[in-house]
Amino acid sequence: MRFNALLFLVTPACIAAKRNAEPFQFITAVNRTQPIRLKGSPVCGEVSSQSFTEVNAGVKLNATKTIVAFGDSWTSNGSNGTIPFAPIVFPPNPSAGARQGNNFRARASNGYVWVEDLANTLGAKLIDYSVGGAVIDLSAWNTTNKGITFTSDNLLRTDFVAETALFLQQGHLLADLNPETTLYTVQFGISDWTQYSIGGGDWTLAANTFLRQLGILQANGAQNFLIHWVYFTENVTDTMQDVLHQGLQAARAQNGTNFATVNLANLFTAIRSSPEEWGYTNTTCLASQNFTDFGCDDPDRSIFYIPGHPSATTHEIINQYTMLTLAVGIPTVPYTVRVVRYTARTVQQMIRTRTV
Ligand SMILES: *[C@@H]1O[C@H](CO)[C@@H](O)[C@H](O)[C@H]1NC(C)=O
Ligand SMILES: *[C@@H]1O[C@H](CO)[C@@H](O)[C@H](O)[C@H]1NC(C)=O
Ligand SMILES: *[C@@H]1O[C@H](CO)[C@@H](O)[C@H](O)[C@H]1NC(C)=O
Ligand SMILES: *[C@@H]1O[C@H](CO)[C@@H](O)[C@H](O)[C@H]1NC(C)=O
Ligand SMILES: *[C@@H]1O[C@H](CO)[C@@H](O)[C@H](O)[C@H]1NC(C)=O
Ligand SMILES: *[C@@H]1O[C@H](CO)[C@@H](O)[C@H](O)[C@H]1NC(C)=O
Ligand SMILES: *[C@@H]1O[C@H](CO)[C@@H](O)[C@H](O)[C@H]1NC(C)=O
Ligand SMILES: *[C@@H]1O[C@H](CO)[C@@H](O)[C@H](O)[C@H]1NC(C)=O
Ligand SMILES: *[C@@H]1O[C@H](CO)[C@@H](O)[C@H](O)[C@H]1NC(C)=O
Repeated sequence: MRFNALLFLVTPACIAAKRNAEPFQFITAVNRTQPIRLKGSPVCGEVSSQSFTEVNAGVKLNATKTIVAFGDSWTSNGSNGTIPFAPIVFPPNPSAGARQGNNFRARASNGYVWVEDLANTLGAKLIDYSVGGAVIDLSAWNTTNKGITFTSDNLLRTDFVAETALFLQQGHLLADLNPETTLYTVQFGISDWTQYSIGGGDWTLAANTFLRQLGILQANGAQNFLIHWVYFTENVTDTMQDVLHQGLQAARAQNGTNFATVNLANLFTAIRSSPEEWGYTNTTCLASQNFTDFGCDDPDRSIFYIPGHPSATTHEIINQYTMLTLAVGIPTVPYTVRVVRYTARTVQQMIRTRTV
């Protein structure tokens, strides 16, 4: 393991900044007390590091009014990337988890994903281009570089390139993209790792594409990036993330771009080393994405909801950990989170899809 010196205390964040006011919280649907407490803390490396780390180089979360999100199922609200009108994060759409028809994705959790929690906490508008199963660049992997390609459950697979293109077509119609108040979040690598494991491919190409997309976004006004590193430690993803960190440094040097990086491998290593201290009782709630009838009794105390996908409470923990890394008023404990949970009946109607 690359990181093993985690403190089980909530310590100061990655920049020396005074804590801001308590974050604003929209009341969503169901009032529930978050039973899981954030116990880990970021490593807080240096912007100048040659290796990827956790750092905040200039991003001001408290100034954020709009969030533009790119990523895979960990960030997707279930949209398949086609966005006819502005998103409605509040109130939530109760059908958000349901698979409808043949080409509709489902939310891969039992409630809000981390970026929705972040948007709710900040009172920011979210436009979410993330799509389950998305990779950085379809042409990088042998399994996905031969034309139209599908996920394990037969949905169109897409990538950061396509998500960026769609955003450039329509983003300005959907939200105020004032550079100072818009935060671009990017989270990829999980599906890339899966595809690479199956058929091999080219991580250099993936890294170049990732940085090219950041360049395109900067050319279109992006000044603030929030990047999440993958939640596991593998040589190839570590190496790519080092390259990406260096690319972010270059963006800062050349364009004054602000960026913050959050390493989910630190968070998940901390959770896995003592889940019960955090309040978890189960690892994964549902045995498969397609069935709900043999789920766990208490999904709020499960690390993952379906295999490889965090529960709603873990998504809120990701949100808190992200805010801690960026040093925006970490809420005091005990912390009541208005977590949206689907009712058992809604859940029964769902057919879970997990796209890897
Ligand atoms: C939810 O909890 C908050 C804080 O305890 C309370 O102010 C609010 O009225 C509650 N809302 C509902 C709908 O119960
Ligand atoms: C955000 O926080 C920073 C640092 O605490 C502060 O200097 C700045 O004025 C705040 N901005 C807004 C819009 O509240
Ligand atoms: C998901 O996000 C898309 C794009 O931001 C939006 O159009 C859609 O309304 C959102 N769906 C839900 C259920 O929040
Ligand atoms: C889940 O359902 C989808 C869609 O019907 C199917 O393609 C996939 O193979 C199923 N997966 C499992 C693990 O049953
Ligand atoms: C999303 O759904 C629309 C409408 O069904 C479809 O035209 C489009 O190809 C889908 N996109 C992806 C990436 O699945
Ligand atoms: C996959 O693609 C790479 C180049 O992108 C190639 O070197 C490799 O031989 C291909 N096949 C496998 C099974 O890795
Ligand atoms: C700096 O911004 C330009 C667009 O204005 C972009 O093309 C370039 O890639 C950016 N530089 C870096 C190192 O990201
Ligand atoms: C990955 O790293 C480990 C130790 O850090 C090393 O033992 C292993 O050989 C590496 N694997 C590859 C494929 O480079
Ligand atoms: C969840 O954890 C509890 C307590 O350890 C255990 O009794 C139960 O069997 C677990 N349920 C599942 C679905 O793993």
